[in-house]
Amino acid sequence: MGSTVPPLTVPSPRSTVPLPTTGAPAPSNVTLKVTMALTGTVFALYVLVHMIGNLKVYTGAEHFDAYAHWLRTLAEPLLPYEGALWLFRAVLLVCLAAHVGASVLIVVRARRARGRVRRTGMGWRRLPATLMPYTGLVLLVFIVVHILDLTTGTRPVAPTGFVDPTRTSSDAYGNLVESLQRWPMALFYIVVMAMLFLHLVHGLWTLAQDYGVTGQRTRQVWALLALVFAGAVALGDLSIPIAVLAGWVG
Ligand code: HEM
Repeated sequence: MGSTVPPLTVPSPRSTVPLPTTGAPAPSNVTLKVTMALTGTVFALYVLVHMIGNLKVYTGAEHFDAYAHWLRTLAEPLLPYEGALWLFRAVLLVCLAAHVGASVLIVVRARRARGRVRRTGMGWRRLPATLMPYTGLVLLVFIVVHILDLTTGTRPVAPTGFVDPTRTSSDAYGNLVESLQRWPMALFYIVVMAMLFLHLVHGLWTLAQDYGVTGQRTRQVWALLALVFAGAVALGDLSIPIAVLAGWVG
């Protein structure tokens, strides 16, 4: 009587235990970071170019209005009137939606993962870093107010004498001056430019990490450049409500 040997069973590849998954959420944190970095770069370039355009206010109404009109006739006749402007607007809107969406996900995930633990050793960079969601929110509100004020001319945000642009001319200078002669509005612009500085300085610094910049010295140079860039944009813009309030422009 031989003992009964249980049949040897070889598990088929299909019956193996499922491979462990990382449980990583989608979109991945890397995708979110890259989205923030790319859209943030677009915004940084936009605010720089916009600030340089805004400085034309110091050259007088004729030049400033001609510049505003040129923005609407750019690339004509290849594109229709305001065609290029609408392309820019579409790109900015897509970037804004992606930037805000990605930032909300990053903030929520970071808070969930970190709990009450705080990062140390950040030095002067702690303040702008901590304020990022709040300065971002202020900028979002500002963009809406700013467009109602100087682009669509929607009252009561816009000044009473707002003049719409026509096919042949623009009154951007008059609109700007009339708006910023209202001191609460000028004050709002000044406060927002300080927020813009804080947001830009931290955003640009983060770009270094997101683009994989390494090396202590290179990072130090980048931090300095971020400070100079943010300072130049904020000061250039900030000077305008101050100049209007002081009567140097108007
Ligand atoms: C003191 C600072 C600023 C001044 C004096 C200023 C001035 C202006 C003016 C005059 C216009 C209307 C241009 C036109 O209709 O031809 C405009 C439009 C606009 N500005 Fe500013 N701006 C300032 C800061 C900013 C900042 C910081 C941002 C972004 C965060 C911004 C975003 C925009 C946008 C999105 C438009 C609408 C462009 C369009 O679609 O026509 N501005 N700005």
